[in-house]
Amino acid sequence: MALPHPEALSATARELLDRLGVAPELLAGPLPSVTPITGTPLVGGLRSARGADIDDAIDRAAIAFSAWRVTPAPARGAVVRALGEHLRRHREDLGTLVSLEAGKITSEGLGEVQEMIDVCDLAVGQSRQLFGRTIASERPGHRMMESWHPLGPVGVITAFNFPVAVWAWNATMALICGDPVVWKPSEKAPLCALACQALLDRAAADVGAPANLGQVVLGDAETGRALVEHPGLALISATGSTPMGRAVGERVAARFGRSLLELGGNNAAIVAPTADVDLVVRAVVFAAAGTAGQRCTTLRRLIVHRDLHDEVVERLAKAFTSLPIGDPLAAGTLVGPLIDAPAADRVATAIRAAVTAGGTVVTGGERVLADDAPAARYISPALVAVPGQLDVVRTETFGPLLYALPYDDLDEAIGLHNDVPQGLSSSIFTRDLREAERFVGPAGSDCGIANVNIGPSGAEVGGAFGGEKETGGGRESGSDAWRAYMRRSTATVNASDDLPLAQGVEFA
Ligand code: UN1
Repeated sequence: MALPHPEALSATARELLDRLGVAPELLAGPLPSVTPITGTPLVGGLRSARGADIDDAIDRAAIAFSAWRVTPAPARGAVVRALGEHLRRHREDLGTLVSLEAGKITSEGLGEVQEMIDVCDLAVGQSRQLFGRTIASERPGHRMMESWHPLGPVGVITAFNFPVAVWAWNATMALICGDPVVWKPSEKAPLCALACQALLDRAAADVGAPANLGQVVLGDAETGRALVEHPGLALISATGSTPMGRAVGERVAARFGRSLLELGGNNAAIVAPTADVDLVVRAVVFAAAGTAGQRCTTLRRLIVHRDLHDEVVERLAKAFTSLPIGDPLAAGTLVGPLIDAPAADRVATAIRAAVTAGGTVVTGGERVLADDAPAARYISPALVAVPGQLDVVRTETFGPLLYALPYDDLDEAIGLHNDVPQGLSSSIFTRDLREAERFVGPAGSDCGIANVNIGPSGAEVGGAFGGEKETGGGRESGSDAWRAYMRRSTATVNASDDLPLAQGVEFA
């Protein structure tokens, strides 16, 4: 399959940016913008934010906060509703831009924009449901009530692999909760950020919302560090690697800020003896090779009962080999490029380490389409059979690399499953209700997400998203994740003429 010409991709990017309302003067500066499809520049260059720019942005966010926090929450929801409408109108434009910058196949680029639209719907409804509790007071004529108030400007740091949806999870909830957002996107996906920002600006103008509810600061790790250390950001919500999250968590804690971390995963699926193998093969192929293995939720470890192991591995190998790899925008492609050469090198290094430790490459792990575009990295999804828990299996490698390991009984499988530093997502394939309940129960999977008879990736926005251990403990998107963007206030109101003290204390 031939790859498109780099100039054609640049022309498409410019057209999309124009339609999405990104001002051309934003596209001038030293920061590169590269497409992984050909490994070549997409548009000229972008400006990187530095110290004073960041201080200014946070000052502007503070001004926006003073107006926004006293705007009724359902009225705040109007800006998110308008954003959702712009996203519906520009679903294809933004989805294509995601494909250009992150290398996702068309359907996954569109899916990511759909995830944004879904979370807009969720946040609009949530804007009428920011509730606290009323608690019985021990004192006569007193009432205790809990209110949730806006927290303050929020810093959002996102990764290349979900360059628009993860911002939307954070920005929509932060906005309805009364918090302006300052966003540092991945330096590998700056155009997507400018496009989202342009749509948010339009949405804010549509409903007459204050200026600077959302701002983008482009740049590298230094820009990120400036946000993280800034006392003007009440919450830092960061998505990315565990080492990045550790640095963020420590620095934010040192200034008593709040952090919401969504870091690495090393997601596994257990295939039990009663599993429907047809279902397993379909689910595993998407979960391991979809998005070229570059989701936090990608399936990285398959723990298969010894009775099914060889059959499952053989069927997966056949399925992996038949996956169409290539231009993510071409019809029929299922596996696009890795984001860059270092990402591909990390996959190759992990495969070598697994083989040295006794693993066998069943299929894949090879570079393809190298002649067409020397700077691009397309690799065939790799399936590596390993005898047991190796160090390399306990490490997250962010690419299309699946380890298969056998087990004999469920206790052993759950032990293997949990014996990794990360705790994001997980699944079990079984038709045995007891096994399924065991897996999702307190002595089962130790992850933030535990699925039965589906893979670990592709979560819906309604659930809280995030995980335990080195995944960072944060929860974003659905359920009560909105509370992370608010502060709790407990008020005791005395409507009596007396002044009884709690705990029966007498002071007179
Ligand atoms: C991520 O990879 O950072 O559950 C987010 C999923 C998507 C989100 C992934 N809804 O796979």
